[in-house]
Amino acid sequence: MRTSLIAGNWKMHGSRDANSRLIGGLLDGYDVRGGCDILVCPPFPYLAEVARLLNGSGILMGAQNCSTEESGAYTGEVAASMLGETGCKYVIVGHSERREIFGETDSTVARKFVAVQQAQLEPILCVGETLAQRDADETRLVIERQVNAVLDVAGVAAFARAVIAYEPVWAIGTGKTASPEQAQAVHALIRGMIAAKDDKIAGSIRLLYGGSVKAANAAQLLAMPDIDGGLIGGASLQAEEFLRICAAAKA
Ligand code: 13P
Repeated sequence: MRTSLIAGNWKMHGSRDANSRLIGGLLDGYDVRGGCDILVCPPFPYLAEVARLLNGSGILMGAQNCSTEESGAYTGEVAASMLGETGCKYVIVGHSERREIFGETDSTVARKFVAVQQAQLEPILCVGETLAQRDADETRLVIERQVNAVLDVAGVAAFARAVIAYEPVWAIGTGKTASPEQAQAVHALIRGMIAAKDDKIAGSIRLLYGGSVKAANAAQLLAMPDIDGGLIGGASLQAEEFLRICAAAKA
């Protein structure tokens, strides 16, 4: 069975003080015997220090973004291999904020996905529709386009070492969560797309839901058959709230 993954995307939040309080709180309340995998994704400058704070705890670390390139004259960019050296195991690619605010295309996202795997790390591929797309009945179309863009470039076998996060843009940071049924429907669609190419990988890949997940709504979402965890923004910045979400995850 798939082990649930609860990932905290800190986005551009944090400070040395706040991070050490947050990690301290997580370590105090975290039980290694608890069933799910837990991941924190701090901003780049804090990765090394957070890795040190987490050392040996069993809580994993990831990054929020990376370059499409391995190295070279790309001022301001960070290569996936560098993230691996700081202790990251995962890298988020294609977050809707990267797509919408920073203009990342499906093809950029696919290249980042490949770059992450080349560095022996696991990509967390984010997909999701905007409110206008949902209202126009284009959810299926958008999800298929975003997932296929990566499947076409990386191939289905690559998804044996990847996570997909469904994050409806209209639910991110808005307090509006997708209903468990709405989320389940899209998760089933995604798993079906993978299953059409490889049944075994479809059965093992972890599909996370993200968008205004909090302790109060986590249990219902995480109980759905195709929801294997969460990608948590705001609620991952408070140790107690984040741990309550983790406690709601299936083992
Ligand atoms: P919120 O949980 O703050 O809605 O953010 C979700 C998200 O974008 C996680 O990547």
